[in-house]
Amino acid sequence: MLKILNLEAGYGQLRVLKGISLHVLPGEAVAIIGANGAGKTTLLKTIAGVLRPRSGKIMFNKQDISNEPLEKIVEAGCCLAPEGRHVFSTMTVKENLLLGAYHRQRNGASADIASSLKQVYKLFGILEERANQLAGTLSGGQQQMLAIGRALMSGPKLLMMDEPSLGVAPLLVKSIYQTIANLKREGLTILLVEQNARAALALADRGYVFETGQIVLEGTSRELGDNPEVQRAYLGKEYRRIDE
Ligand SMILES: Nc1ncnc2c1ncn2[C@@H]1O[C@H](COP(=O)(O)OP(=O)(O)OP(=O)(O)O)[C@@H](O)[C@H]1O
Ligand SMILES: [Mg+2]
Repeated sequence: MLKILNLEAGYGQLRVLKGISLHVLPGEAVAIIGANGAGKTTLLKTIAGVLRPRSGKIMFNKQDISNEPLEKIVEAGCCLAPEGRHVFSTMTVKENLLLGAYHRQRNGASADIASSLKQVYKLFGILEERANQLAGTLSGGQQQMLAIGRALMSGPKLLMMDEPSLGVAPLLVKSIYQTIANLKREGLTILLVEQNARAALALADRGYVFETGQIVLEGTSRELGDNPEVQRAYLGKEYRRIDE
């Protein structure tokens, strides 16, 4: 579904991604783990069309999206749920959600929008309860749900998520990850970036480990979870897969 070849990107003089190659197959959940500043967000922003690649190629469903504008990439079915604190805080929850369906509104797909909204409210009941509340007044965890919900409103085939556990209480992390697991079960393909390697590897089929803009390790989640280096650097104590 997604294939990235030798991707380089950065900001001004700063070279962040140094030749990234990775892929995501249809129906897979793939995790990218790595420390602060490793370039995880930069990678997602580059795939989503927020940031232009300097070189390399991004193929999405056999279409070269490396230089497509953001709206085209969303329309193709590749959508980024940013970190929760990047919701539009002065707009209501519902306005934020509808914004995620912007291109469908333009194409007159109002029935699809209504059904996506229903789906999002079913996944995250709190968003329906708070539909008319300003997004900025939501808790950190609720804002994460809103960011994911907004991305789902675009009707994605590939959902990319940037740190859905950031700033979220442990119990809610569990619930958000259960929801992501359900979306995966329903067939959604997922690319997930996390500092919380424990949560990410418990959900994902495969993963890549990022260090200073490069992939230093890749494998199935089980392989990565069993790897002593990964355990020491990212997992700490023993962890268990979500489906066990
Ligand atoms: N808009 C920007 N302008 C300039 N430099 C930036 C910008 N955004 C990120 N950087 C730099 O790029 C590097 C990679 O940042 P990035 O946000 O991709 O890391 P990350 O892996 O997502 O980290 P974190 O886990 O803290 O979210 C860092 O050195 C960061 O300072
Ligand atoms: Mg980041």
